Amino acid sequence: MTKEHFQFEYEVYNSIDELTEDDKWLLDEAREVTQQAYAPYSRFHVGAVAKLNNGETVKGTNQENASFPAGLCAERVLLAAVSSLHPKAAIETMAISYFNHNGESNKPITPCGICRQSLQEHMEKTKTPIRLILGGMYGEVYVIPHAEMLLPMSFTSKDLKQ
Ligand code: THU
Repeated sequence: MTKEHFQFEYEVYNSIDELTEDDKWLLDEAREVTQQAYAPYSRFHVGAVAKLNNGETVKGTNQENASFPAGLCAERVLLAAVSSLHPKAAIETMAISYFNHNGESNKPITPCGICRQSLQEHMEKTKTPIRLILGGMYGEVYVIPHAEMLLPMSFTSKDLKQ
C-alpha cells in the first residue's frame, strides 16, 4: 500500500485593487455582467468572462428555468459560447463573480462540480490551462493558476480509450 496526496497553491488577494491592471479589468467585467444573469429563482446572479488566446473577450451568465434542473451556470454558458463563437481559440483566463440578492457577495465562489468537469474538457480540447480569477462584489480575490487543480483525479476522454 502507498499513500498519495494532492495539494495545490493559489493566490489570495485582499481586494481587487491588488491585482494587475489586466486581471482587475477582467474581474470588473465579470462583476458587471452579473446584471445580465437570469436568476429569478435563486436571486444569485453569476457572471463569468473569458480572455481568449486570440485577444477576444466572451461573457456568460447563469440562466435559470422554472424547471430547475434545466438551468445553466454562468461558467458553462460561457464555455458553450466560446466554443461556438471561437471554435479554434482557447481560454487563457476566466474571471467569475456574483451578486447574491439574498445575502452578502463578499467572498469568492468556486465553480460547481459539473462546471469543473466542463472546464476540464475545454482545457483538454484546447491543450491550454485556464487561469481562474474568483471574487465577489468586494472582498478577497483568489487566483487559481490552473483550473485542473479544482478537479483532481478527473474522469477524461483518456479513460474512454482502451
Ligand atoms: N451558479 C453559477 O452560475 N455558477 C457557480 O459557480 C455556482 C452556481 C448558479 C446556478 C444557479 O443559477 C445559481 O447560481 C444558484 O445556485
